[in-house]
Amino acid sequence: MPLLPKDPNGCPYLFLAPMEGVGDKTFRKSMAFVGGMDEAVTEFISVPCNAHVVSLAKVYDSKELDPLPLAAQIMGSDPALMAEMAAELVRRGAPRIDINCGCPSNTVTGRGAGSSLLKDPNYLYEVGKAVRGAISIPMTIKMRSGYEDTSLFQENLKAAEESGAEFITLHPRTKIEGYTPPARWDLIALAKEFVKIPVVGNGDILNVENALHVLSYTKCDALMIGRGAVINPFIFHQIKCHFAKKEYVPTWESLEEYLNYYLKSIPDVIPEKTRVNKIKQLIGFICKSTPKLEEQRKSILTMQSKESASFLKDLLVVLKANF
Ligand SMILES: Cc1cc2nc3c(=O)[nH]c(=O)nc-3n(C[C@H](O)[C@H](O)[C@H](O)COP(=O)(O)O)c2cc1C
Repeated sequence: MPLLPKDPNGCPYLFLAPMEGVGDKTFRKSMAFVGGMDEAVTEFISVPCNAHVVSLAKVYDSKELDPLPLAAQIMGSDPALMAEMAAELVRRGAPRIDINCGCPSNTVTGRGAGSSLLKDPNYLYEVGKAVRGAISIPMTIKMRSGYEDTSLFQENLKAAEESGAEFITLHPRTKIEGYTPPARWDLIALAKEFVKIPVVGNGDILNVENALHVLSYTKCDALMIGRGAVINPFIFHQIKCHFAKKEYVPTWESLEEYLNYYLKSIPDVIPEKTRVNKIKQLIGFICKSTPKLEEQRKSILTMQSKESASFLKDLLVVLKANF
């Protein structure tokens, strides 16, 4: 079985992107409930220099999305500890270990992790090789196009490939660019020409047209979607249906069901105030899906409530009126 199989209609493999703070377990489970994606990955699991890997790895649950696979992403800078963490996650059932070479947060880069690894291709290679050597399941690398600029882009791609990565996921922005300028899909095309291993295209895929364009323009092997799925949880179905020559028009009922499922999936230990904020954050993203909802976004986001179930009920009324 290839690592990135197409579906029977020729639709490429579709990943839900890791998104710390937004794409948590509750969101991933809700996306799995909606369906359409082929695989998800955890937000980064940090491996600091004093890491006790057995304790840190407990956040990972390989059965979380059963039967969908959930890969584990690790982020750190010490090759030996990263290898230890990878091995521990394999013991916990991870089907794939992904190395984060993209996080732009200054706290993270300050300790040499995340996108900091892109400053030194040799170091990236050392981390990748150490993880590769510690596990017998696929090791993959998720990277940006560079740290300050793209001058080391090809060296970093080569380092990732030579370290033994099975595929590279490319978010084609530098660390300095953050999330602002448009993703440079031309760099995905360049990566495809430069490495022999598969390349997963990522960045600014917000609809079926974007997905088809990235696939045909870059020739990438699979797609990873993050914010596009938070804005439109049906995007994976829509892409799949396009390949099946069917139309997928999300109904109001399916959105309502998704949001109710999301609320139900927030763990009981989470306080009401946080639950309300989580719902608000999610709906804030959904409001970016249509101009009508975008107009309502500000007023929706300023709505207040102390109780999440009634808050969602009130929001559903506003959403439905503008769906
Ligand atoms: C809130 C947020 C959190 C993110 N957390 C992670 C993370 O934990 N690991 C990672 O590799 N990328 C992370 N990313 C980057 C995304 O996985 C993805 O590469 C990026 O958002 C571009 O794809 P998109 O336009 O489809 O969202 C995060 C992005 C956002 C917006």
